[in-house]
Amino acid sequence: MFGFSFGKKTILGIDIGTASLKVVELEIRDDKPPHLSNYAWMPIPEVIKEDNDSEKSFFETNVPEFLKKLLKEAKFKTKDAYVSISAFGGLVTLIELPEMPEKDLEQAVRFEAHKYIPTSLDNVTISWEVVEGESLAEPASSPEKEGVILDDKTPKKIQVLLVAAFKNRISAYEKVVKAAGLNLRGIEIESISMVESLIGNDQGKFVIIDIGFRVCNVIYVEKGIIRANRNIDAGGANITSTIAKGMGISEERAEGFKISGKNFFSASSSLRFPTLDAISSEVARILEAAARDKSNHRLDAIILSGGTAGLNGLAEYFQTKFNIKTVIGNPFGRITYDKKLEPLVEKIKNEFSVCIGLALKESENHTKWGLNKK
Ligand SMILES: Nc1ncnc2c1ncn2[C@@H]1O[C@H](COP(=O)(O)OP(=O)(O)OP(=O)(O)O)[C@@H](O)[C@H]1O
Ligand SMILES: [Mg+2]
Repeated sequence: MFGFSFGKKTILGIDIGTASLKVVELEIRDDKPPHLSNYAWMPIPEVIKEDNDSEKSFFETNVPEFLKKLLKEAKFKTKDAYVSISAFGGLVTLIELPEMPEKDLEQAVRFEAHKYIPTSLDNVTISWEVVEGESLAEPASSPEKEGVILDDKTPKKIQVLLVAAFKNRISAYEKVVKAAGLNLRGIEIESISMVESLIGNDQGKFVIIDIGFRVCNVIYVEKGIIRANRNIDAGGANITSTIAKGMGISEERAEGFKISGKNFFSASSSLRFPTLDAISSEVARILEAAARDKSNHRLDAIILSGGTAGLNGLAEYFQTKFNIKTVIGNPFGRITYDKKLEPLVEKIKNEFSVCIGLALKESENHTKWGLNKK
């Protein structure tokens, strides 16, 4: 019998957040867009969320058990998995260097990396990629081949995307995934996964604001490349505390109010959220840096992600503050899924950008930056 067989892989993307575990299973096929074949979500009990000295042992002993339980219940078809590490566990940034021969680049990148990494480089895994060569003024004649500088007026610059992660964080995640009985195919910093699923190859300029339970990650992306990435300790837990204090109610009730969709930004609400002020300052700083860099720095959109993106009125809050169109990101836009899931997708889309981005790594036209490149 003759026929065509198309390649098909099934891959898990696993996001271990402070508040919850999220997993998607994608079928990656040669002939069709990636397809969502299964997904699962579970909250992580309070004890693990606490940031104390025993966090590591809690993480390494308890998370595999939760993961195993989730995997068993969801009945995923594969054990091949990618996992993300939190943006705090690493660094993604664009650095600019003078044009130089390739053999010197490694050393120059490591030297530059030192400025960003407050510890010995022996403690981090570094990966980098030249993403753009840029000449400030094109020389009239063709450049000498091996020249470091073309002439003193027109030095060429190259831009390098630097990705670094702490080795101890990588090994903790490795242990967790292996202890849950999975085959670990790769680890990626969550910022990269989010860009993969929310922006892909879109050539525009965007700021992603990901607000989870404990942390906020602000990512400036241009032409699909991360130019700047900052993390702050500000998340949904702080929003809940502000509501609890402001309304004189328990944290539990405040959390319930928040999730129920009450709009705390309406004219009748007197609550002010210092957390959102802190996040806005970070966004403003990133936008200022972009404005210094380029004359045309106008953003196409601010994209919200993470559980807290579900906060009623939050998109309008940022839209009014920065006068930039603000939307809740949709990581399901690049994959197909059962039509029956449509109402659910609308509800959960902000929570799954990291794990969908991870599983998309095995698709053919994924963006290529990651920790396992070098
Ligand atoms: N509908 C909603 N409105 C407001 N906040 C919400 C809503 N749904 C979830 N949240 C908040 O989202 C937060 C959890 O977000 P998320 O799942 O992105 O966190 P995480 O990835 O586990 O944590 P982190 O990224 O901080 O490690 C919680 O603080 C929760 O209260
Ligand atoms: Mg998160």
